[in-house]
Amino acid sequence: MSDTQEGNTEFVDFWNEILVPKFVKYRHILVGGLTHHSAKIFPSLNVREGDRVLDVGCGFGDTAIQLARRVGPSGSVLGIDCCAVFLETARKDAAAAGVDNIAFIEGDAQLYRFEPEYDFCFSRFGAMFFENPVVGLKNMRRALKPGGTMTMIVWRAIEDNPWLGLPKEIVLKFLPPSGEDARTCGPGPFSMANQEMVTKQLEIAGYDGIEFERIDAPLMVGDSPEDAVGFQLAVGPAGEVYREAGAEAKRRHGEIEAALLTELGRYANAEGIVMDSSSWKITARNPE
Ligand SMILES: C[S@@+](CC[C@H](N)C(=O)[O-])C[C@H]1O[C@@H](n2cnc3c(N)ncnc32)[C@H](O)[C@@H]1O
Repeated sequence: MSDTQEGNTEFVDFWNEILVPKFVKYRHILVGGLTHHSAKIFPSLNVREGDRVLDVGCGFGDTAIQLARRVGPSGSVLGIDCCAVFLETARKDAAAAGVDNIAFIEGDAQLYRFEPEYDFCFSRFGAMFFENPVVGLKNMRRALKPGGTMTMIVWRAIEDNPWLGLPKEIVLKFLPPSGEDARTCGPGPFSMANQEMVTKQLEIAGYDGIEFERIDAPLMVGDSPEDAVGFQLAVGPAGEVYREAGAEAKRRHGEIEAALLTELGRYANAEGIVMDSSSWKITARNPE
């Protein structure tokens, strides 16, 4: 862990203990799928050659590498993530791609003591897991130079994301909802879906110039129905219900798997299992 903090939050521990192996196994879905959301908005990002860029919750580092190419040799990118395993992949991929204006550090982006040296702060689906969103968003702002821009992509509501909502509904036909004390990765994928609330959080965190833009994109949730079912039972809201149900989930596994195979199989096309997803591009500015 980073030397700027004494211990991990329970959420950072959860990422490392529970989610890392699942994300590594299903990297093809996570990175491939999430890329649809960043690819749509990358051309419009306020990033110029020579900029210094911070990528928060950078995961396997693909967006950080793209940003490093965009800022060119006179600029640089720092990717931060709380999971060292993801960063090992990120460093290897950057080296293999010959991108050397990039560095990755392990740390909790809410607490890491950044210098106010960045022109642009980016996060693709990283900020929704902050234990305290205002603290995390404020720390991202503090990393920016005066007038610097922050753009984050976060999921819209579960109703607009059937790729996560439908599998959860199906699993809940067999298993009880996970309780209040369930171990989780943080407030969760939909914690920044509410425009009014996130606007308020950003204002409290000291930003101005706050703008929201809806991004809708098809998302490949598996190469095959079997792959999609394995993915859904490993991560996301369905995975949480399944994990928390413990022995009961194992006992009913056959029925759950069969129901998911049938329902998710309906979304098969030439690419694999493809379902609808929807996110926000949220842009805000550190005042001059
Ligand atoms: C859904 S993944 C997105 C990863 C990557 N940005 C992408 O789009 O593929 C969320 C990422 O945020 C990281 N993360 C969660 N909480 C964090 C925190 N407090 N500080 C730094 N990284 C965090 C996780 O380790 C994970 O890599």
